[in-house]
Amino acid sequence: MSEYLSDHVHLGDDLTSVVILDQTLLPNRVEYLTLRTPEEMFEAIQLLRVRGAPAIGICAGYCLAALAQQRRDLPPAQFGAELHKLAQYLNSSRPTAVNLSWALNRLGRLAHAMSNAAPADIADALVEEAAAIHREDIAMCRAISEYGLALIKDGDGVLTHCNAGPLATSQYGTALGPLLLGKERGMSFRVFADETRPLLQGARLTSYELQKAGVDVTLICDNMASMVMKNGWINACFVGCDRVAANGDAANKIGTSGVAILAKHYGIPFYVLGPTSTIDLNCPTGGDIKIELRDPEEIKSKFYAQPMALPEVKCYNPAFDVTDHELIAGIITEKGICRPPYTQSLAALFQ
Ligand code: MRU
Repeated sequence: MSEYLSDHVHLGDDLTSVVILDQTLLPNRVEYLTLRTPEEMFEAIQLLRVRGAPAIGICAGYCLAALAQQRRDLPPAQFGAELHKLAQYLNSSRPTAVNLSWALNRLGRLAHAMSNAAPADIADALVEEAAAIHREDIAMCRAISEYGLALIKDGDGVLTHCNAGPLATSQYGTALGPLLLGKERGMSFRVFADETRPLLQGARLTSYELQKAGVDVTLICDNMASMVMKNGWINACFVGCDRVAANGDAANKIGTSGVAILAKHYGIPFYVLGPTSTIDLNCPTGGDIKIELRDPEEIKSKFYAQPMALPEVKCYNPAFDVTDHELIAGIITEKGICRPPYTQSLAALFQ
């Protein structure tokens, strides 16, 4: 896999900055950005320069660690108070992907446990912890890829929505992981990538990653999913997730639940692939998941040479939807495949 596909988020050499590949410029430009201030970090997450639940978590960990390094010479009480405020600020950049708060809380717990240590030592430990989150993500993707690969066979057609590949994680990805791993092993799949309106993660990122990796990928508009299913070209649907509730309801990019409903109609298994860090047992059902609402201009004018709707037209632009657990054939995690009833199988992962 190309270097920029697997190392698109990392700490700067001076440990006080974070370097990211700006995903908003893909597929036309490969450009890296150095984030130094809390505002730059917040903006990068909010504007989806870095996106995808696990990648957001990795990035947030590095951001908090870099900000702690910048403040390593502060008096302990001030260091602790600033760190807490910065974590809250970064956490407010996007509400749906639980990996953001998961990573920030993990670093916050470590800092709290070390509260008697010198700020410089805490800052160094936070760098280590953020790197550990990144390393674990690589291992997680690999394990999910293996479990997912066991669900499909050579020659299968797979439909995916949004982007849950290396760019959304560290390596391999979650939903794209089995396809990339299978390709490395000489298998071939026919992948259909929904373009994923309005931000086109499927067109800009998924078809890009798969094409570069030599996987047979066909880009379709979101409203063509039922056609390719009806044609008999799809054996399984693989999608990622941003937050999975205790009952198995899964939030993912807007349009995912429609794919699941279509898959049920055509008798195609619909799988959600994601790390255990995306499972939120504190969230009983999908109804408890906060859905991010985004700028209407993403629908009306972004990516168009001219606006495609009157400026005064109202828009509803939810970034995610929730797929009902009854539509999900399996939730594939790094610890194994969970099957219904999810209330039991998901809880068992944490015992
Ligand atoms: O708004 P985005 O691009 O961050 O949304 C991303 C998704 O919905 C992904 O499918 C999800 O985060 C899983 S990434 C492995």
